Amino acid sequence: MFKRKNARAEAAAATAAAAATASRGHSLAAHGVTQSFEGANGQELSVLAGVDLEITRPEIVGIVGPSGCGKSTFLRILAGLDEPTEGELFFDGEPIEGPNYMRGLVFQDAALYDWLTVSENIAFGLRARGVYKGNEHRVAEYVKLMGLEGFEDSYPYQISGGMASRTALARTFIQEPGLILLDEPLSALDAFTRAIIQKQIVDMHLRTDAIFVLVTHDIEEAVFLCDRILVMSARPGHFVGEVIVDFEHPRDRLAPEFVEKRKEVLGHFDNIDFL
Ligand SMILES: Nc1ncnc2c1ncn2[C@@H]1O[C@H](COP(=O)(O)OP(=O)(O)OP(=O)(O)O)[C@@H](O)[C@H]1O
Ligand SMILES: [Mg+2]
Repeated sequence: MFKRKNARAEAAAATAAAAATASRGHSLAAHGVTQSFEGANGQELSVLAGVDLEITRPEIVGIVGPSGCGKSTFLRILAGLDEPTEGELFFDGEPIEGPNYMRGLVFQDAALYDWLTVSENIAFGLRARGVYKGNEHRVAEYVKLMGLEGFEDSYPYQISGGMASRTALARTFIQEPGLILLDEPLSALDAFTRAIIQKQIVDMHLRTDAIFVLVTHDIEEAVFLCDRILVMSARPGHFVGEVIVDFEHPRDRLAPEFVEKRKEVLGHFDNIDFL
């Protein structure tokens, strides 16, 4: 009896804590982000010019734009890996001043650690934070979620490109970040593998209250995954268009309204002066 009451109280506390987290939610704000680099000829290269972004709910926000316009540069700044020349950045109300596991970045190439197995790659962040012990089961859980069973002990050179992408995603997702930055994570994959992993990304999104920011050059992928798509201009990049995609998941790529959204995104490209 006593035990049962305790279990109820624990369940109520857990529900309350979950509700508090849900109502607090995550938020991301970037104001006037500008970035310049020194080019190879020593001249200043203006890469981002006044980028503004505000996300206050667990959306998947897509960023599309011409090659070299500054998309990866912007994600690196959001991850806290690079400091912008100008601008203000906040995650959950705190200034972004450096990398933090709560803001995870999946790089344009999977960038796995060659000397670690699939499982060890996935566990890397937990180990680095000293929280692996007691969480070993979560590595197995993510191996399963990402369809990597049977390859836990393989090294990166022994797995396919699709498996490498899934390992990179699992390595980030397992940390349960509040902000997940995805830099063309599927660009190197064939259409079949890409479609499978796109569904896995949607599933992961529905499981968390995290904000996802996805850079992609694939308009269909953006419409399939994102709640909102931002179109970036040619360099120096800034946002020139926004398309809201308010369709339920799973989305039908052949539905007339899906095709219309693709056209809407492409319409914004007409306003971009390509270099
Ligand atoms: N560390 C750096 N030093 C100098 N220039 C840089 C640096 N990082 C990026 N750039 C330059 O900034 C510009 C934008 O690069 P970025 O990688 O952000 O583009 P992108 O939009 O991600 O392109 P892609 O779609 O091809 O991945 C490029 O001209 C690149 O040469
Ligand atoms: Mg890039």
